[in-house]
Amino acid sequence: MDLEIKRPIVTKDHEAMIHNHWAIVCRGTAVFQKEKHLTPTKFFAKTFYATLFKIAPGSRPMFRSSMTVQGKALTGLVAVMATVMKADNVVETCQDLARMHARFGATKAHYSSVGTALLETLEIVSGPEWSAEIRSAYLTSYCLLYYLMLPVILETPRRPIQTSLPGHIARKDALGANTVRLLIVLDFPLRYHPGDSILLGVPLPTGEVRRSYVITSLHSPGASTFEICVQAIGEASKWLCAASLDAAVNVYWINPGVHFETDTFTSIPHRLLFISHGISVAPFFAMIKGLYAIKSQYEGDVAALQCYEGPPIAYFQRPFEGDWANCHIVTAAKFTVTGALDLTPDLAQRHLYISGPVEFVQEATRHFIEAGGAESNIVVYSFDNTPFIEEAASAQQMMITL
Ligand SMILES: Cc1cc2nc3c(=O)[nH]c(=O)nc-3n(C[C@H](O)[C@H](O)[C@H](O)COP(=O)(O)OP(=O)(O)OC[C@H]3O[C@@H](n4cnc5c(N)ncnc54)[C@H](O)[C@@H]3O)c2cc1C
Ligand code: HEM
Repeated sequence: MDLEIKRPIVTKDHEAMIHNHWAIVCRGTAVFQKEKHLTPTKFFAKTFYATLFKIAPGSRPMFRSSMTVQGKALTGLVAVMATVMKADNVVETCQDLARMHARFGATKAHYSSVGTALLETLEIVSGPEWSAEIRSAYLTSYCLLYYLMLPVILETPRRPIQTSLPGHIARKDALGANTVRLLIVLDFPLRYHPGDSILLGVPLPTGEVRRSYVITSLHSPGASTFEICVQAIGEASKWLCAASLDAAVNVYWINPGVHFETDTFTSIPHRLLFISHGISVAPFFAMIKGLYAIKSQYEGDVAALQCYEGPPIAYFQRPFEGDWANCHIVTAAKFTVTGALDLTPDLAQRHLYISGPVEFVQEATRHFIEAGGAESNIVVYSFDNTPFIEEAASAQQMMITL
């Protein structure tokens, strides 16, 4: 996009048009599909990042927090565009943002890419609600923000974009015979949801390998630490389990998981069943912890069946301190239908979240369906690293060729 409006004047009509149009987008337009997109704002956020990374692939590594959390910052940006003339301290706010963005590595050219991606996204998610007038209102407002930021963009030295950030292990506790809990510190305030995982670069003696690990802590604003639990299965996990305090790891970004967004809990199903095998309990541990944190608003009923070949790991059976009548966690040596039905006689009405080795998942989901469960109510939390590693490799490749 050329930021072609050189003297952008945002009128009351522009603001009203953006305000009304955005309200329609947030309610869901004719092109929004609930099954596919989940919520209108997720549809918007996913489309925006897919479009931006197509236009400016080198910008991928800058966005380290969960896409869905960033999506909310993005909706905040549209809200600013709708009220830019009325907002207090708009110049100061924009210029502070520009300084922050220079630290992330944003260039002048990135502002064009973001503007283009924003307009293309708005057009896609609007369907029949898009028009030349609405485009012009958004463009004018974006250009105004850009020109307010421009002096700072031009004068602030920007940090080069790094493919990954250095982090280090600050704490380590044994959870079981070959399972540890690690606290990792890095100089970046990551934002994430329960169920999200982190893509780590593990510096093996033979060279770095990348693996995902579920974040088992809950996000707290401003904090730049996170916790993961690791079972020594293969090379990378064995390295992490044996690593000494202060050992360095590289942190890429958050992989959004099953979107347990506790801040928009109305989209979370009410009758939940989590079935896991071994360390695959980690995402469900974090999700139950997240649900407990909002238990006064969330009226759901949570059941978890944790299967362990060896002794159960006590840590995972206590995702929270205190009582919660609507949550039942049991352990078993292996998955059986009787065990699952004892825990949840209403199995057929439940949303099943399952994680573990392929055969385990296949058997348990088959029984769930035989017991009357709906296939559409099954979410498999996959431990397959391939898509995440491919994404990181292609972003790095793009940076090299830019
Ligand atoms: C989204 C996501 C979240 C993850 N979260 C965690 C986590 O919180 N804690 C954790 O320890 N691991 C987690 N993993 C798995 C982790 O990324 C590693 O793949 C795994 O620990 C083994 O990596 P490795 O290099 O040690 O061995 P690899 O050489 O990569 O793997 C060795 C073998 O073990 C298999 N394998 C990997 N994980 C499992 C499993 N759970 N059950 C059975 N077989 C498995 C692999 O397919 C491979 O055949 C997660 C993976 C993904 C994609
Ligand atoms: C008018 C233009 C823009 C506005 C108003 C804007 C606004 C914002 C806001 C409000 C946040 C959230 C800050 C927070 O939560 O603390 C944010 C985060 C961010 N923005 Fe922008 N932004 C703009 C352009 C850009 C551009 C051009 C880039 C570069 C491609 C960019 C990259 C980022 C990144 C990387 C983050 C942090 C993401 C993370 O947490 O991982 N933004 N932006």
